[in-house]
Amino acid sequence: ARPRILVARAVFPEVVNKLAQHFDVEANLADDIWPRDEFIRRLQGKQGVFTTGGERIDADVLKACPDLKICANMAVGYNNFDVPAMTAAGVLATNAPGVLTETTADMGFALLMAAARRVTEGEHFLRAGQWDRWAYDMLIGQDVHGSTLGIIGMGRIGQAIARRGALGFGMNVIYHNRARLPEGDEAAVKARYVSKEELLKTADHVVLVVPYSKESHHTIGAAELALMKPTAVLVNIARGGIVDDAALAKALREDRIAAAGLDVFEGEPKVHPDLLACSNVVLTPHIGSATVPTRKAMANLAADNLIGYLTEGKPVTPLNPEVMAGR
Ligand code: GLV
Ligand code: GLV
Repeated sequence: ARPRILVARAVFPEVVNKLAQHFDVEANLADDIWPRDEFIRRLQGKQGVFTTGGERIDADVLKACPDLKICANMAVGYNNFDVPAMTAAGVLATNAPGVLTETTADMGFALLMAAARRVTEGEHFLRAGQWDRWAYDMLIGQDVHGSTLGIIGMGRIGQAIARRGALGFGMNVIYHNRARLPEGDEAAVKARYVSKEELLKTADHVVLVVPYSKESHHTIGAAELALMKPTAVLVNIARGGIVDDAALAKALREDRIAAAGLDVFEGEPKVHPDLLACSNVVLTPHIGSATVPTRKAMANLAADNLIGYLTEGKPVTPLNPEVMAGR
């Protein structure tokens, strides 16, 4: 019998069609948000699931779905997966790394530029009919070119941002990461390793690109914001929860830092009301990887993981390959 899989949210029809060449597919074409019990019920009897990042896979799901062999996330982040529980249950986890690196780095720069140069604030001002004359200090902001860029998290996306900063904008790039890059990689992206405290104190602008985990929860809170320059811009394109949003809103309201650019939020799609009330923050709805070619590449990579693993035991980007050794 053909393996049975669940596609938990609507994706490109061509990708669903590709999956249907190999599997019996139940796809959420209507793009409903299934309550968790309905998601679990639909997952029962399936060998694979195509997830998009919002579906939590934990011990309860695994216990209720003993036929499950693989969960393929159409995202590079996988904090919706309890990977140790999956490994213990013999379920393979895959994510979608690599294909969204440059696109997401572009978004980091879009938010940095927009926040530093008050682009969206300017647009609101113009649309509201407030532009009736020139003023020397109208919407003046901060420079990005030639400044010191601090990157927290130096994976693929962090390195792509470093390259943009150093090579395109003449920036002095410093970074902090759990592990220091090998010297050759540091030289390639022209970035210098510093402590988190030094980074926060000396960077003109700070970009966050760390994956979410218990350890990275509130990497930036009131104490860290207090170390930053009053002229600094903070950008979060990583995950909600890495920043204490309430503390950030307070710092923005009190002009303790100049501005922020945020693509991700604690408790999204809800956004902290105090952030919504701030004019010096650029807010986007988690669209870091949202370009046509990149979203297609992510969906195809998730599909290829399902096809590769369930048809010949060869996933493309496994997170817990030790599951395969135990098979
Ligand atoms: C998006 O946030 C992703 O993790 O790919
Ligand atoms: C994601 O690709 C990262 O490693 O930053």
